Formats: sequence, C-alpha cells, structure tokens
Amino acid sequence: MAHAYNIEVELTKNSNLEKVDFNNLKFGQILSDHMLVADYDDGEWKSVKIVPYTNLSLSPATSALHYGQAIFEGIKAYKFADGRVSIFRPDKNFERFNKSAVRLEMPELPEEIFMGGLKKLIATDSAFVPPVDGASLYIRPFMFGTEPALGVHPSKSYKFIIITGPVGAYYNKPLRVKVETFYTRAAAGGVGFSKNAGNYALSLYPTRLAQDEGFDQLIWTDAKEHRYIEEAGTANLVFMLGDTLVTPGSETVLQGVTRHSIMDIAKSWGIKTETRDVSVQELLEGIEQGNVTEAFAAGTAATLTPISEIGYAGKLYKLPAPETREFSNKVLDYLNELRYGRIEDPFGWNFIVT
Ligand code: COI
Repeated sequence: MAHAYNIEVELTKNSNLEKVDFNNLKFGQILSDHMLVADYDDGEWKSVKIVPYTNLSLSPATSALHYGQAIFEGIKAYKFADGRVSIFRPDKNFERFNKSAVRLEMPELPEEIFMGGLKKLIATDSAFVPPVDGASLYIRPFMFGTEPALGVHPSKSYKFIIITGPVGAYYNKPLRVKVETFYTRAAAGGVGFSKNAGNYALSLYPTRLAQDEGFDQLIWTDAKEHRYIEEAGTANLVFMLGDTLVTPGSETVLQGVTRHSIMDIAKSWGIKTETRDVSVQELLEGIEQGNVTEAFAAGTAATLTPISEIGYAGKLYKLPAPETREFSNKVLDYLNELRYGRIEDPFGWNFIVT
C-alpha cells in the first residue's frame, strides 16, 4: 500500500512579501517565505513538511559536496487574471526528476511528495506568484545526498527540498552564441539527459571563455566529433530550417519541457516538426543561404529567447531580426496566453493550484 504523507505546514512569522517589487523582478534574487523539506533515510521518505525558508545545517562531510549526487528541476507557476494560480506541466518535471534520480543512483520521489508537496507549497506562498504579465513564480525542486561519509558510494540519506521565488526574464535580450568545438558538455552513456548539478558546473569555464569573446552563451556540440548541435546549456535549441521546425534529438541533451511544448504546439498548427541530428554545417550553410529563418533557446527559465548571432571558427553568422520571426513571436504569444489562463488549454497543461 502506498505510504500516506501528512505534509504539515509551519507558517513564517516574518514574511518577505512586502519587500517584493513585482514590477521590477530579476531572475532568482528573491525567495518566497516557505520551503518544502523531505528527508530520506533507512530506505524510505520520512518527514515531509513546509517550513519558513531558512538556512540548512550540514556536516562538512556531506556526500553531495564531495561526489555530486545533486539533481534539480525548474518549473514555473503563473497567476491568472481571476487570481487562480497554475503550474505549467509539473508532471513532466516530476517524470524527468525521477529519471535523473535513477541515473545518479538516488531514490525516486513518490508522486505524493513531489506533486502533492508542490501543490501545497505553491498554495501556501500563492501571494508570491506575480500578478504581472511576463513574470512568474520560479520553482526549484532539488535533492542531494546528505550522508556524512567520505567513501565513494551512494549516500544513504537525502534531502528533497522545494524553494520558490518570483522572477522576471532570465535573458532580457537576444543571444549571441558561440559554437563550442573543444570543450564537451556530455557524451553518450553519460549524464547529459539528467538535470544534475555537475552539468552546470562544467559549463561555467567554457561559457566564461566565450563571454570573454563577447558571446552570451555556448552552443554545445557532440563529444565525439563536435559536428552536431546539442543544446545551449541553460536551454534547448530550436531552429526553423526551411518550412520545418527542428530541434536536436540527441539523447545527451536535456529533454526540455518548454521545447517539447513548443514542438507540440507547432504540430497542432500543421507545421512540420523534426527532432533529429542537426550538424553545425547544415545550420551555418542554412543561415548563409537564408534558409534558417528562426533560431531560439527554449527553456523554463529562458522561456523563448531569440538567437541573434552564431559564432563559429572566428566567423559570425547573423540571423533575421527577432521582430520579423513569425513562428517564434506567435508561439511565445500563444504560450503566454495559455499559461496566464487567457485562452482555452486544449493540451491540459495547466495544473491549477488554487
Ligand atoms: C530552467 O530552465 O529552469 C533551468 O533549470 C535552467 C537554469 C539554467 C536556470
């Protein structure tokens, strides 16, 4: 029989709400009043509670700090005009979270804790969901090994935590990206598909080198030949090649929820879509021939951010001006209308909380 978890709520006595300026939000700088904390030990999830946001106390031998058993998700909640709060497709993040957990030899989360806990936490902090167009509540579920042990083995204990905070845009301008042909994000058989902390740590140095050259982000390529496009590290990549919306299909890229949603919307509009290998050569020749009319990053944090320029081997490839891009603009408008509850939700993607 499934375990029944009673998620107790301890409310804060010092709310941060009045310090929040919903009309001037950056990404990830403000955190909501409460967090969900669940502890795993002795082969089972034990306590699950919602408590005031506070620091953690950890042993310096905490295994995740040494051997990196740490995974996370990114999800967003939106406020409808009638005050209801909706989380966008959290079931997809739940599914991906458990795939990451399996690959990192961590325990899977029961639906009742991930989905039930998420719902209760967002209901508790619903006042932090911005009542403002273009803004949302960013939700960060994460789990890490807590066993104080220096031997290399799977941690025996874990913490699953969800924190949230109101956010504006992650990127506030079109991106200049560089095709990375030396450093590698992920190889076949590795952990590229999982949302683990190490995938982000390894990206920081090569990204900084690209930023020193004036780029905003990288386009990662395959580990073996650096011939095929993978993802941007902070988001998936999508291109309009001729009349077809194409996204790289490699198993080493993160299976993004926003990308998936955009491909599904395109399909429902009768646009041809393909999830397949895209070579750097195909992309760059396509740009030169005027056959690549749109290129964008798609992710929960990034939403849909146009790519303005791609750098490769010292040369810059310029894409059409973002305001001329018919599909990107239309699909972003549609996604916003849907997520803020202003149109019907034909896909059943809105998970209404309150
Ligand atoms: C997200 O899009 O939610 C992510 O986790 C990506 C991260 C770079 C903010």
